[in-house]
Amino acid sequence: MTWGSVSLSFTDVLWSFLALCFFVAFCTHKISPNLPRKCETWRLYLLFQDLIRYGKTKQHLKRDDWLRAFDVPKRWFWHFYAISVGWNGILLGFYLNFIFRHQSYPSWLTGILDIVTGVPSTDSQVPQLSSLLVQLLLFVHSLRRLLECLFVSVFSDGAIHLVQYVFGVCYYIVLGLTVLCSDRFGKGTGTLLSQLDWFHVAGNVLFIGASVVQHQSMVLLARLRTGKSGTVETLAHRVPEGGWFELVSCPHYFAELLIYVSLSLVFGGLSLTWWLVVLYVLFNQALAAQLCHELYMSKYESYPRHRKAFIPFVL
Ligand SMILES: NC(=O)c1ccc[n+]([C@@H]2O[C@H](COP(=O)([O-])OP(=O)(O)OC[C@H]3O[C@@H](n4cnc5c(N)ncnc54)[C@H](OP(=O)(O)O)[C@@H]3O)[C@@H](O)[C@H]2O)c1
Repeated sequence: MTWGSVSLSFTDVLWSFLALCFFVAFCTHKISPNLPRKCETWRLYLLFQDLIRYGKTKQHLKRDDWLRAFDVPKRWFWHFYAISVGWNGILLGFYLNFIFRHQSYPSWLTGILDIVTGVPSTDSQVPQLSSLLVQLLLFVHSLRRLLECLFVSVFSDGAIHLVQYVFGVCYYIVLGLTVLCSDRFGKGTGTLLSQLDWFHVAGNVLFIGASVVQHQSMVLLARLRTGKSGTVETLAHRVPEGGWFELVSCPHYFAELLIYVSLSLVFGGLSLTWWLVVLYVLFNQALAAQLCHELYMSKYESYPRHRKAFIPFVL
């Protein structure tokens, strides 16, 4: 799509659209229509709430049976990461072959990339080393999250909507393609090592720091449900304490944002598409954090009032 002198790819339009949807949801989630519960507008409102909430923030929503029919267990979150590890691992393999052995992508992948890129890449200045590192880091991130889902987190019987489930599956597929598109035509100059710049180091340092915070937060959440020996004692939701939970209700969501910002840094800040992904993650995680924070504030009288929802000292 061309807009004035700016050319937008399919992924640019998609990530902008998703960011806008979550921004609107963030701004409007508290608006509750003062209407009879049987009318169509009320039903639409319930559907909206059902689509933006999941897990504990959905539990107190008074939903009709037809809405419950679309519930999928939240403990299936690991499916997203398993798909991401598999898919992004395959893409990484193709990319390594592409840059080291100069083997072209299979025709089905070229076809998909042509559709997804749409226009000659706007990210042609992105160093090849950046594309490679971002793919590697995305793979590492997905693998860590998969292991956390399987071996650290203790899930209750919370639910997500089928639409959210399908969205989660598609999300990591499109994300991998988005990274691959950043070096669509393999225009890297010089050896990979000669491309190394300060922003690669800074991005990796931020990635490691944010991953540590996210992992620590997942461990603290799991400990709310387990005893000293590691056995599960309860599936109730409790007030999280320790680590970055002293500053915000959802440090793992804040860490997620930092992880995506770190990948933008690895791109040298040159990928407009990746900044749009960051924008989407910002509004998506801000909404989830705000819903969680509102639940904690209303449920626990002694909940620390100084805690922010998402970004320490800010939001
Ligand atoms: N990039 C994206 O678009 C995107 C989207 C969504 C999530 N994520 C990331 O995925 C990760 C997981 O997200 P999530 O929304 O599933 O996090 P979450 O709702 O906080 O759940 C994480 C784990 O902690 C448990 N838990 C949550 N609050 C608890 C409490 N008060 N007491 C005891 N246990 C509690 C949950 O159990 P339950 O089974 O009871 O919930 C689950 O096992 C996060 O790091 C997030 O950033 C990324």
